[in-house]
Amino acid sequence: MMKAVAVFPARRQVQLIDQPEPGIQSPTQVKMRVLDVGVCGTDREITSFQYGTPPDGSDYLIIGHESLSQVVGIGDQVTKANTGDLVVLTVRRPCPHPSCVACRSGRQDFCYTGDFTERGIKQQHGYLTEFVIEEESYVTVVPRELRDVAVLVEPLTIAEKSLAQLRAVEQRLPWGRQGHRNAVVLGAGPVGLLGAMALIVAGFDVTVYSRSSKHEEKNDIVSAIGGRYIAAETHSVDEMAEAVGAIDMVYEAIGASGLAFDVIKHLGANGVFIFTGVPGCNRPIEVDTDDIMRDIVLNNQVILGSVNAPPQSFQAAIRDLGVFMQKWPQAVRALITARFPLDQATQALAPGAGGIKNVIAVSA
Ligand code: BGC
Ligand code: ZN
Repeated sequence: MMKAVAVFPARRQVQLIDQPEPGIQSPTQVKMRVLDVGVCGTDREITSFQYGTPPDGSDYLIIGHESLSQVVGIGDQVTKANTGDLVVLTVRRPCPHPSCVACRSGRQDFCYTGDFTERGIKQQHGYLTEFVIEEESYVTVVPRELRDVAVLVEPLTIAEKSLAQLRAVEQRLPWGRQGHRNAVVLGAGPVGLLGAMALIVAGFDVTVYSRSSKHEEKNDIVSAIGGRYIAAETHSVDEMAEAVGAIDMVYEAIGASGLAFDVIKHLGANGVFIFTGVPGCNRPIEVDTDDIMRDIVLNNQVILGSVNAPPQSFQAAIRDLGVFMQKWPQAVRALITARFPLDQATQALAPGAGGIKNVIAVSA
């Protein structure tokens, strides 16, 4: 038997449970011992029963989708990983419909039908358990020197997929990114800070605008990577926009729609605004839609949403994380606030747990 952290939505309980240890069932599967699992806002929504769906026929869902693990066994036909390798796993799995060209192309991050599943989130058990089995196509090997920080790969893939989308959009301008330098990151959580690092490495001048109360800690990290930190507490959106000048791209990682739409108003000519947050359902607010629509048209702006990430973005994230560790090892390490043992997982998941990224160290 092995331990796992499961949410029982109908009973409104989050519990450490015993599960039979799984075994390899097909020649293309990999068996892994889970080392680290990161906790994010999605996990907190699931464990407060607002989001997440157990597998069909199960009354519980094993949570966890940000993982680092070590391969302990491989099927006969596995070529991408070997016993002992450190690996990260993608999250989304394809829908079953033959007509879904996205899922049939291995790009379930663009699933048309909505019948995709997600490990630890939607109808598939996740990684907050001692052992997991997965098809090798969802496994990516991580260099050993990234052991301490590789649990950040999955949240970084959100930025990597966004950057890939941005590059595709930039193709509409014959001069590409030239003259496009000012990026604003909304939010200074892990997704925002990792996004800021990725944007700086990609050549942007980055301003992080944040509502966090931990100004000093966030400011230190952003300054260390060569970005500018502006706190919402001391600067309105108008003041932030004034300080930045023409905003060429916005990477939204705050999940607050009101603030995001305030910033859209300040997007510059040919600007791209990328949403990655998934807000809860709050009361509607008033937005000057005429103003925004006029600007979108007259300034050729692009507003796009980006979710989940394909294996290519996991590879990009692993490469970039290596670059970040060369340039700013302390700032990257500072993103991981605390490690909790598996039997204290519920503490790491508590709404007031604080910190930037809490990690559950499932095994050493
Ligand atoms: C995960 C994504 C997932 C999204 C929506 C995020 O926390 O990182 O992989 O698609 O939640 O469920
Ligand atoms: Zn997450």
